[in-house]
Amino acid sequence: MALNDINNDGARYAFICTWHDPMTDITWRYQFMYHTNDQSIEMYDIKNQKTFLKRVAYPAITLEQLYIGSTILVYTRQLLIEDYGDEFTRKHLRGLQETTCAMIKPDAICNAGKILECITRNGLLIKHMRMCQLSRKQAEEFYNVHQGKPFYESLIQLISNGPVIAMELVGENALCRWRLLLGPTSTEVARIKAPSSIRAQFGTDTTMNACHGSDSHENARIETLFFFRCWNMGMSARFRNCTLCIIRPHAVMSGCAGAILDRILCQFDVTAMELTQFSRHAAADFLAVYQGICPDFCSMTHELASGDFIILEIVDKENPCSNPVNKFREFCGPADSCIARALRPRSLRAEFGINKVKNAVHCTDIPDDGELEVGYMFTHQWEGR
Ligand code: CMP
Repeated sequence: MALNDINNDGARYAFICTWHDPMTDITWRYQFMYHTNDQSIEMYDIKNQKTFLKRVAYPAITLEQLYIGSTILVYTRQLLIEDYGDEFTRKHLRGLQETTCAMIKPDAICNAGKILECITRNGLLIKHMRMCQLSRKQAEEFYNVHQGKPFYESLIQLISNGPVIAMELVGENALCRWRLLLGPTSTEVARIKAPSSIRAQFGTDTTMNACHGSDSHENARIETLFFFRCWNMGMSARFRNCTLCIIRPHAVMSGCAGAILDRILCQFDVTAMELTQFSRHAAADFLAVYQGICPDFCSMTHELASGDFIILEIVDKENPCSNPVNKFREFCGPADSCIARALRPRSLRAEFGINKVKNAVHCTDIPDDGELEVGYMFTHQWEGR
């Protein structure tokens, strides 16, 4: 029997991963193996043809995280999964890891949290996500197949008049499943035929129908490239009277990001958003002010580099020209989630955090730093981005 056949002991999946060593500027290639029966991993150094990491239990990594383009943290190394490592893995996982392009349209941005919850609840993973403000020209390029149709002008107006949230989704049968979750194009029809669909719940009419989904694999590829070819495509951040929120990796990984965003959107506007990641160096740079002051600096750095996180530019909904730093910090609650549960049980950190390090969200601390932190996170091309 082949080593990786599925049997009572589970399966062994193999991937080709790379790790870029910032000190030497060398990129190392590894064969990375994952055993489903005991969630153990092992690594083989391809260049030197020798074992790099002996098989060891590593429950922090789950099979869902292992798809092409994903980044995983193994001890202190951030590995990028570049390809399947053998035919068995390719054959078994390719179908389970189909990708598609999704877009939340301007009319449904206020429901973005609920839509993200629906995506994760239905077993789809978000591989890339970015809020974009499209120009008229970009909107025309995206919807060029509809040029000449009676609804074309209102569609272009809608898409270029406010921000959209573009996503690449991954999962089994992702393209069809996302279209099924959307429901029929017409919101009116959706309300009759698929009342629990996204368009039935959050759409207004046939053009303002909440979300878009690619209609073929080829279009999914073209649309994903359109949004994610360039890291700062359609920047929507305003960089004024704003504060920064980071939905931490542990909260993203446990599927809470949608619920957190939904809570935020009740009181604040989100004017920029991106799913991104830090290398350990970049995380340490960002948290440098806490070094030597905060005893948890090392665990905070490790947590922030442990997976994808979501950065948000936050603006006060009621008073968009005021500095929102203090108001948002109050909303997040005390930094330690255990203390937050005792003192401010309705705060974000009380509800979604675990402890001092895994406290669900980072927020800017000092009123003068809001615009600085937002500027840093949305314009900096740090290592690992
Ligand atoms: P979407 O899935 O984004 O793909 C093309 C969009 O065109 C569609 O959602 C609607 O927003 C819009 N659209 C398609 N057909 C019609 C129609 N008959 N009337 C108005 N708008 C439409």
